[in-house]
This record gives sequence, structure tokens and C-alpha cells, in this order.
Amino acid sequence: AAEDTAVRASHDPVVIGHRGLPSEAPENTLASIDRASKKGVRWVENDVQRTKDGALIVMHDTTLERTTDAKQRYPRRAPWKVSDFTLAEIEKLDAGSWFDRRFTGERVPTLDRYLRRVDHNRQKLLLEMKAPELYPGIERQIVDGLRRAGWLDQRHVQGGLVVQSFNATSLKTLHHLRPDLKEGFLGAPKATELRSYAAFVDQINPSYEKVTPTWVRAVHALKGPHGRRLEISAWTVDDGDRAVALARLGVDGIISNSAHDIADALDED
Ligand code: G3P
Ligand code: CA
Repeated sequence: AAEDTAVRASHDPVVIGHRGLPSEAPENTLASIDRASKKGVRWVENDVQRTKDGALIVMHDTTLERTTDAKQRYPRRAPWKVSDFTLAEIEKLDAGSWFDRRFTGERVPTLDRYLRRVDHNRQKLLLEMKAPELYPGIERQIVDGLRRAGWLDQRHVQGGLVVQSFNATSLKTLHHLRPDLKEGFLGAPKATELRSYAAFVDQINPSYEKVTPTWVRAVHALKGPHGRRLEISAWTVDDGDRAVALARLGVDGIISNSAHDIADALDED
């Protein structure tokens, strides 16, 4: 049946390092993207949030305790929300030793430092606005941060940056501020709802379990705000056979904790 027919994409999907290379270095740190770079990973994904005093930092959880030593350093500050700490307080934290003693002293990066390192490494960035509902106005701040780091030029905007979020309202806000930026919606809207997303996003990025041949065709049938067909990047895929199956279904990107291994699996297929 047509439903079962694999559609081979004309080229392998792009492989994106989820939070850098967290199989080998602490997630969302400069060490993590450097490690990814050494392994040939050209695209990295991160998560951006805001401190109490308004600085943009790179971190996944909305609390500090899993990926830093916040609990030890600030024992009376539970539940250690990112938004309850100043940048100076966060910059004192160790964001490496929880992962491995070899990374002791690794810091939580500001978005600015992170963007500059991605550039230095000649990598490209899938930037996630994480829980933007907690940080009113963060879309404008992200635009300002991108501008300051030199990321609003043609080179970055057209080929080196996608901003994604689970929050469609936030993506719409960003699209109105900067219609030239490429955006991705995290989720798997039903076929009947896809058209409304195509007004402001260029990518639909689902959990891999949601990807079916029919859904891929429905997404690929639509054009985004920049006149190109919508793309699909699936997450989080750490199994080579699964990545190959997704490539055969025609997905455009694969987000992985072990991106170099997934790239190898795709090469071998
Ligand atoms: O890039 C997709 C993925 O990062 C979304 O989930 O929780 O890892 O941010 P999460
Ligand atoms: Ca993420």
C-alpha cells in the first residue's frame, strides 16, 4: 500500500547535535559544542532562558540543580529556578562536574558567548526558546542578542540559524519581529492544522514516534513563509537503524544526543 512505501530523500538528512554532544560532554556548554565540532557535527541545538536580571543563558531545565552544583552552592534557594538567580550567581556555578570530573569548572554559557563559539567552530544553530511563557518579551531580547553577536546577516539568517519552540504564540511573536528568520514548531500538528503553522514556520519538528509516511507527505506538501516547502527535523534519535528508517521516510533533519554516530549510520546505509 502507498502508506507503506518508503520515500527515499534525494540526500541524507542533516544531523543536529541535541544540546551539543551530550553523550560525550555536559549538555548545553561550550565544551559540548566544541566536542561536537571535533567529531564533525555541523549543526547543534540548544535551549535559551533568562536570568533574574534579564541575561540570556543556555540551559535546558527551568531549574538549575540537575546540570549544575546549585544545590550545594545555594542550599537554601530551592527550587533553584533559573529566573530566581542573577547572571553573576549563575556564572559561579559548575556546569561540568555532574557529568564527569574532567569537565569541572565548565560554566553555564551566556547566549552571546555561545553564539560566538558556534561561529568560531563554523557550526550552525537550532536555537530553542525554552518555556518562553516564563519569560515575557524574550523574543525581542533574542533578536537583540542575535544582532549584537552579528547573527542577523544574510549568511546566518538564510543558512545558519533556525529558532524553534514548543510555544506557537512565541514563534508568531518572533515572526512578526523578524519575518526573515527561519523558525520551527516543536510538535506534530494534525494534517488539517498544518496550514495555519505554515504561515509562520519553515519547519515542523516532531518527536520521531509521530512520523508516518502520510504525515511526512502532508507536511512536505506545504510551503512556509519564505516560499520553500516545509522541512521536518525529528527528535531525539540515538539509534542508527531508527535514523535510517526516518531518512527513508524523507525527514530532512535528525536531532540526536550522539550526532556523529547517527551520521555514520546514515553514511553506511
Ligand atoms: O530539539 C528537540 C528537543 O530539544 C525538544 O525537547 O526537551 O530536549 O528541549 P527538549
Ligand atoms: Ca531543546
